[in-house]
Amino acid sequence: MGVSPAVAGASCTRGADLNVALTFRSAREMPTPPCGVGAAKVKQLSLPKVFITRPLPPQAVERIATRCDWKMNPEDLALEPIQLADACREVEGLVASGVRVGEELLGQAPRLRVIANVGVGYDNIDVTACTRRRIVVTNTPDVLTETTADLAFALLMAVARRLVESDRYVREGHWHYWQWACLWGADIYGKTLGVYGLGRIGQAVARRARGFSMRVLYHDLVRATPAQEQELGAQFVDRETLLREADFLSLHVPLTPETHHLINARELAMMKPAAFLINAARGKVVDEAALVEALKSRQIAGAGLDVFEEEPHIHPELLALPNVVLTPHVGSATTETRLAMAMLAAENLLAALEGRRPPNPVNPEVYV
Ligand code: DGY
Repeated sequence: MGVSPAVAGASCTRGADLNVALTFRSAREMPTPPCGVGAAKVKQLSLPKVFITRPLPPQAVERIATRCDWKMNPEDLALEPIQLADACREVEGLVASGVRVGEELLGQAPRLRVIANVGVGYDNIDVTACTRRRIVVTNTPDVLTETTADLAFALLMAVARRLVESDRYVREGHWHYWQWACLWGADIYGKTLGVYGLGRIGQAVARRARGFSMRVLYHDLVRATPAQEQELGAQFVDRETLLREADFLSLHVPLTPETHHLINARELAMMKPAAFLINAARGKVVDEAALVEALKSRQIAGAGLDVFEEEPHIHPELLALPNVVLTPHVGSATTETRLAMAMLAAENLLAALEGRRPPNPVNPEVYV
């Protein structure tokens, strides 16, 4: 079955009224017959109740509906805390996308047993509080690695070659004749890529850089094995060397108290004036005000940003700067990847609800 565009979330729109005071639906009400081993048998029993915070592709909803009673926010829109609390009151499972889950919500969801986050980053969830309550939290790693790396590399290329400016220049009718000095950008081929955080996505970006004959430097808390370094053609350096030598600094660290404002005025001052900063990780890893100053004063050459400190609000001066390419947190936003994420979240949810260990627990200690 194809994903209907309305559900696939092809655009970012704000809807009018939210109606999450829905009643739970069960497999019996699905438009297509549920599949899955034992579905008919399970339907006889009382099924766990699940709330889905954003419209997921129908395949994922159908999968959940084989084993659960479910309700779903029909709008691709963040719920107000009070709406979310209301929707979670009776549920044992929460499929979380674009919501914050903290103590307050947990206190109002006494039956909750699993939070299946649709995303690899889970800084939106108070995992410690969940662990205390023995609620398993899961995420969706791997399935989005390559897609997110594609976006990071796309930002790198777009800002270096001034693609957005060039597009605007043509559309606005400024292109009257070929010019020698038109929209010069920066070379990518043969330059130095600095990967800050050599996890899955950082590694995937490093692999892309090899195709551009780039020199790849990286820094991480834990050094990769010699075999990994060799495979990636990546050289471990200290933090300062990374900042000083990178022509493109690409961030791939999770947001933690330690990585908050990892890149601030001090770090930006160490970068080359010709360097570009790429962030497809988390907005709060960069001090956005300091970045604006560095971009305005041309302390660095430009930035490609998919994430921001206070999404969806963006520092107003960033919007006015020509040497920045901005995208609305779409690192994993392809049809294939979003479906894979939703299906993986569904598997994590069902496993946990059925007392099996889910494929991707982020707090496995709840099983000890
Ligand atoms: C992720 O998977 O962490 C994406 O950034 C979506 O939040």
